[in-house]
Amino acid sequence: MSGSFGENGHSRRLEGRVAIVTGGSSGIGRGVVLRLAEEGARVVVSDLREEPRRGKYHEVDTVIPTAEVVWQGGGEATFVRADVASDDELEQLISGTVERYGGLDILVNNAGIHIPGTSESLSIEDWDRVMRVNLRALFVATKIALPHLRRSGRGRIIHIASVHAYGGGAGPAYAPAKAAVVNLARDTAIEAGRDRVTVNVICPGYIETAIQDYLTQEQIDGVSARTPLPRLGLPSDIAAACAFFASDDAEWITGASLVIDGGFIAPV
Ligand SMILES: NC(=O)c1ccc[n+]([C@@H]2O[C@H](COP(=O)([O-])OP(=O)(O)OC[C@H]3O[C@@H](n4cnc5c(N)ncnc54)[C@H](O)[C@@H]3O)[C@@H](O)[C@H]2O)c1
Repeated sequence: MSGSFGENGHSRRLEGRVAIVTGGSSGIGRGVVLRLAEEGARVVVSDLREEPRRGKYHEVDTVIPTAEVVWQGGGEATFVRADVASDDELEQLISGTVERYGGLDILVNNAGIHIPGTSESLSIEDWDRVMRVNLRALFVATKIALPHLRRSGRGRIIHIASVHAYGGGAGPAYAPAKAAVVNLARDTAIEAGRDRVTVNVICPGYIETAIQDYLTQEQIDGVSARTPLPRLGLPSDIAAACAFFASDDAEWITGASLVIDGGFIAPV
């Protein structure tokens, strides 16, 4: 996922908007940044690290930082280092963005982690860590960003959850955190609607990113074979929906969650 910026001829629905994408250096977040920027948004790429994660199976050769790809394609993006597990760093990220660009229109809460383990093997510290990054941080970012998004008049919050919001199998922290994100969005949607802020969730299936390094090649092949549209997803599959939720085309959609998984969870 590099070098394709600007070549796809997408419409520029997000001209003049300012977006923050957490976890924007790699994987799905990187795909989302590239798409929002292609559609005209100025994007703050926020992450623990500027260099993209390179996976065992996917994004093996991805090296150019996301913001650099955007600039090369004629768009505007800035990297800001921030750990979403730190309330102070989230505060600085959001207030710094508003100072620099004069406002905030789109917040994509994408940063997330998966720590493998079962109820017996996962440590309580690791359970807390997954909850902090995958759930608590989304609340904190929402809390800090909402006043700015209300001022936008077309504010957007988009959370990246998972198909594991609807089923177990990803461990005792990841699946409950992702399920809670779906309901967090519904709750925020109710309180933010009067100011035309929408809050929606995308629930990806298995997407080709470095987060899958904990799987074996056989498991990855098995997922692909079991998927009605028989391939793994790409960051661009998620990014397209994210740009839609961010645009005026989705102005009357809020509290929704959209599964994008090639049909993976369709079978009973
Ligand atoms: N890839 C999949 O199959 C898949 C499926 C469903 C959901 N998701 C979700 O999509 C989101 C993105 O996952 P991905 O597959 O792109 O993962 P990834 O590991 O490729 O990228 C995640 C990015 O988030 C950053 N990050 C991690 N912890 C952070 C923190 N505390 N603060 C700031 N940045 C942090 C990482 O540095 C990395 O750049 C996650 O929320 C994940 O749970 C992924």
